[in-house]
Amino acid sequence: MEEFLKLKPDHRAILTSSPEAFSAIKGLLQTTGYETVYNVERIGEQKTGMATFACKHPMTGDCLAIIYGISASDEPSHAQAPFDFGIGGKKAKAMHAYTQHFAMRTNNIESLRGHLESRGAKFLTPIFNSADQFGPLKQCFSRELLDDEWFFIELTQRDYDSSRIGKEKGTAFSDETVRALYNTKQAEFRDWLKTQKKTKMFESDDKTKSEMRRLLEGLEPKGFEKLVKPLARIVVNG
Ligand SMILES: [Fe+2]
Repeated sequence: MEEFLKLKPDHRAILTSSPEAFSAIKGLLQTTGYETVYNVERIGEQKTGMATFACKHPMTGDCLAIIYGISASDEPSHAQAPFDFGIGGKKAKAMHAYTQHFAMRTNNIESLRGHLESRGAKFLTPIFNSADQFGPLKQCFSRELLDDEWFFIELTQRDYDSSRIGKEKGTAFSDETVRALYNTKQAEFRDWLKTQKKTKMFESDDKTKSEMRRLLEGLEPKGFEKLVKPLARIVVNG
């Protein structure tokens, strides 16, 4: 297998339904050993934005970004979409958290993206070439995978020893990239609000399933995708 196809989980981004849910989940993580690696009260556009708290467990290496979408009176934030519009065609009253995206880390993001594009994958953003407090950080974000969910994947390349994150103090994300993702995503969502139509990562659900299964063959630890509910729906249960 080519080196760039060997992937590691980098982080999972979890949307929360309210400031209360956001604070409760943040509190749980802070009290169970997770170290803060990113924290902004509001980032985004003038109109809508999000609060983001990212943290990493120094022993397990698990990294989570917790997000609360801040809507405007006349426009919801895309980060509220699962709670405002539901998933799987229905709204769940008691849903307070939703896995919005799963970031997988590669040693060569250009090669991985090119490989996926040659197989028909569509990306929402270019490759953002930035840095965090540990070193160079490149990230790009796919189109959503399903019509009735809000889930997408992220590709990440960190040109430093990522095991330092959470063990040493420092920010592991870039404001510039977080803001660019938020704003691009909100523009995409604004189109969806008008048309109820999406451009998806792959053209059909069958193709999504086969391509994601193929990509996940390179992911270690094996079976991690089962911990990412919308992805498990595609590749495990689907
Ligand atoms: Fe992310």
